[in-house]
Amino acid sequence: MKFRTRAIHIGQEKDPATGAVVPPIHMASTYVQPGAGDWLPFHYGRSGNPTRHGFETTVANLEGCGPDGGALAFATGMAATHCVVASLKSGDHVLAGSDIYGGTYRLLHQIANRAGVKVSLADSTDLAKFEEGFRPNTKLVWVESPGNPRMTITDYAAVAELSHSNGAIMGCDNTFATPVLTRPLELGVDIVMHSATKYYGGHSDMMGGVLAISNKELYEDLAYVQNATGGIMGPLESFLSSRGTKTLELRVLEQSKTSMQLARWLDSLPEISKVNYPGLESHPGHEIAKRQMQGGFGAMMSFELEAGFEAAKKFVGSTRFFQLAVSLGGVESLIEQPASMSHAAYDAADRAKHGITDGMIRLSVGLEAFEDLQKDLSHALSEALKV
Ligand SMILES: Cc1ncc(COP(=O)(O)O)c(C=O)c1O
Repeated sequence: MKFRTRAIHIGQEKDPATGAVVPPIHMASTYVQPGAGDWLPFHYGRSGNPTRHGFETTVANLEGCGPDGGALAFATGMAATHCVVASLKSGDHVLAGSDIYGGTYRLLHQIANRAGVKVSLADSTDLAKFEEGFRPNTKLVWVESPGNPRMTITDYAAVAELSHSNGAIMGCDNTFATPVLTRPLELGVDIVMHSATKYYGGHSDMMGGVLAISNKELYEDLAYVQNATGGIMGPLESFLSSRGTKTLELRVLEQSKTSMQLARWLDSLPEISKVNYPGLESHPGHEIAKRQMQGGFGAMMSFELEAGFEAAKKFVGSTRFFQLAVSLGGVESLIEQPASMSHAAYDAADRAKHGITDGMIRLSVGLEAFEDLQKDLSHALSEALKV
């Protein structure tokens, strides 16, 4: 069965009680047991819920978790990442890539440290440099590809190999690539995380997160931590995530196509000094992206205005279809300034060190027509240049 068929049919079978083609939303918090101590698959809503289980079954199939692993659905992407971090012990070290979501940076630097977990960042696009970041106590490697917001490409297979040879497991935030374009478990990655708020949900109307794992022991440990800490995805969000997933492939391929057209056009403009999009031949990670991303290069990009901070600020406030908001992955296009919005949680020195300039603008390209989006950006550019 092809990806898009599985996205519609696996884990989403008709309701056996009524024949409804869409499984119902199970809201119950608890389940009657046949007798004291007789446990059925569902007994308490935190430990398991049929609607959540349906979504997890779909995700496990699409991500390629195999017969021993599985997927876990969480209240948010951060709850999913936190579950991985909470599985570590005091004294363990996390080696993370330097192009990561601001909230992940905050979780690692402001929360994980409270439990005695050590953290350092290194450039995961430079394997030799990245390897220098390993310590004897490195237990977890965490990278993102494409990275946020510079759209750097990390070679998942190479970093997985490096992690394993240094005694660590490797997790990745694959939110930008989605399983449509990249399936990291097939490349040797141990834990795949997605903010389901983004492409899995796809309509900017719910919050969620997922972990996908193929190793039995690791899956069982993370399921244990999830149940113990409680950051589960609710039934309504599970339903919305399943509904969004049915069109995941169609949306991502179409949005990637529009993004490629927009990136080429932006790249041709003299007022724009740099376009970060892995589909462009000029992108330093283009060759790896061609191998690692199938069917397109995603719908996220960033660029820098030659005219600097004030012009960039004016630009993001002058669009009509690109709405000024954080988040991404919905059918509606969004625009933002990472330095003051999605990456405000970084301290300023680290932002500068990792190339997140004040003049950078990030786009999440939605499902609107290329021509309308192009006109929108063209108008914003002329407004910005009046500054
Ligand atoms: C790449 C990436 N990872 C993780 C997250 C966190 O997800 P959530 O907001 O669902 O907690 C986000 C949110 O913007 C993100 O962009």
